[in-house]
Amino acid sequence: SSDLFADDPSQPAQLRLSSEAVLLKGFALPDAEALLNDIAEITQRAPFRHMVTPGGKSMSVATTSCGDLGWVSDSRGYRYSRTDPQSDLPWPATPARWLDLAARAVQVSGLSSSGAPDACLINRYVPGARLSLHQDRNERDFGAPIISISLGLPAIFLWGGIQRADRTRTIPLEHGDVLLWGGVDRLRFHGVRPVAQGVASARDCRFNITMRKAD
Ligand code: SIN
Ligand code: FE2
Repeated sequence: SSDLFADDPSQPAQLRLSSEAVLLKGFALPDAEALLNDIAEITQRAPFRHMVTPGGKSMSVATTSCGDLGWVSDSRGYRYSRTDPQSDLPWPATPARWLDLAARAVQVSGLSSSGAPDACLINRYVPGARLSLHQDRNERDFGAPIISISLGLPAIFLWGGIQRADRTRTIPLEHGDVLLWGGVDRLRFHGVRPVAQGVASARDCRFNITMRKAD
């Protein structure tokens, strides 16, 4: 085992990726089934859809949102919206357990935060889907960490620098992992390699919940 991980098996393993970026291995495992049920419920009201980038390409990742603000993309650009453009209705509320999990993850990570998340992006990756290198910078407030929960199929996360051309590290993300980045690391470039087909697994896709303070 790596000395980067905590030795105490009762504590979730913590891996510090950078000065203000922390991977909490398996931190969401006790909540994972409930989170997946929440996603199923939310997506009955705000279904997954393949948004189109400003460049006109349909994203391989299917997305939806819950919370006060939802992240949307179309030919006019990337932004946050108080309503789902597909229904013109407010996004479904963020389940209390998600906010509770986010608060506990922030506390355990020791990262500083300007407040609770108000935007939850939900991504679904079928095998082959990927997310190209980008920064999360549509938020008005960069003072809270990004809280990213991985569920289902594993993926290779790309962890870059503040410049797009900076070298990237590869970080395996598994079911139940929670990754947080804030402070000086808040604007790091990041992405997801094409998700591989599950091997002898009942799961057929990867879900990611990204909670942010946008406003
Ligand atoms: C994102 O950057 O919005 C999602 C990252 C992930 O799926 O792990
Ligand atoms: Fe992102």
